[in-house]
Amino acid sequence: MNRMKKINIAVDGFSSCGKSTIAKGLAKKLDYTYIDSGAMYRAVALHAIRNGWITETEIDEMSLQQGISDIKIAFKTNNLRHQETYLNGENVEKKIRTLEVANGASRVSAIGFVRKELVRQQQEMGRKKGVVMDGRDIGTVVFPDAELKIFLTALPEVRAKRRFDEMTAKGENLLFEEVLANVKERDERDTTRAESPLYKADDAIELDNSEFTVEEQLQFVVDLLIRLFGDLTNNQINESTTIYD
Ligand code: DC
Repeated sequence: MNRMKKINIAVDGFSSCGKSTIAKGLAKKLDYTYIDSGAMYRAVALHAIRNGWITETEIDEMSLQQGISDIKIAFKTNNLRHQETYLNGENVEKKIRTLEVANGASRVSAIGFVRKELVRQQQEMGRKKGVVMDGRDIGTVVFPDAELKIFLTALPEVRAKRRFDEMTAKGENLLFEEVLANVKERDERDTTRAESPLYKADDAIELDNSEFTVEEQLQFVVDLLIRLFGDLTNNQINESTTIYD
């Protein structure tokens, strides 16, 4: 049995900032559980789209509120050790990554009762610590006591280029301008919404990664962990070290 102290790590920031890459990389190094909170909002959006509760202009909040307790979201690791999102038992990992669902997620995530329910589930997931969760409100609302909070930023053009390359590689046919407009639109909505808008927690460490590689960013956070929790991380940062309850 390993008595090593576990911590929770919050990774927040704008869309397409590479939050998940950093959060996943950290979780792997520490042998912690990675949780993609955005995938949960996307799953709710997919469910709402399928049920006709979201149109171009409106959201049928009453039906969504009545139906939200029927939405069961889970994460499972596939054969390649990649985490995939399940909606009521169905693997929806690919289906939640479209622009349509991203826009729907941005809209349903502005609704108070949706946030309340998902935050409740996220807090439950982090109750035993040992979680790296990425999102928008993890350091401010979900885990205000997280031992380490990272706030990632990058220029909108850099983020749009990353998202554009990712989507084109998957065979999606898009214009760069369309992706850039989408990034800016989501920034605006994420930062100005009344419910849990995106902002940097006072005690979060800001990292502008416009000009950093993934390895450089991970090294930065690892150095930070060592500085803050030397004892804890000296042992954990070794990739061959596994942490058990
Ligand atoms: O990180 P993402 O693009 O997968 O997130 C999808 C949407 O969900 C995004 O518009 C913001 C929202 N979101 C949120 O409001 N709070 C979170 N903790 C995570 C995501």
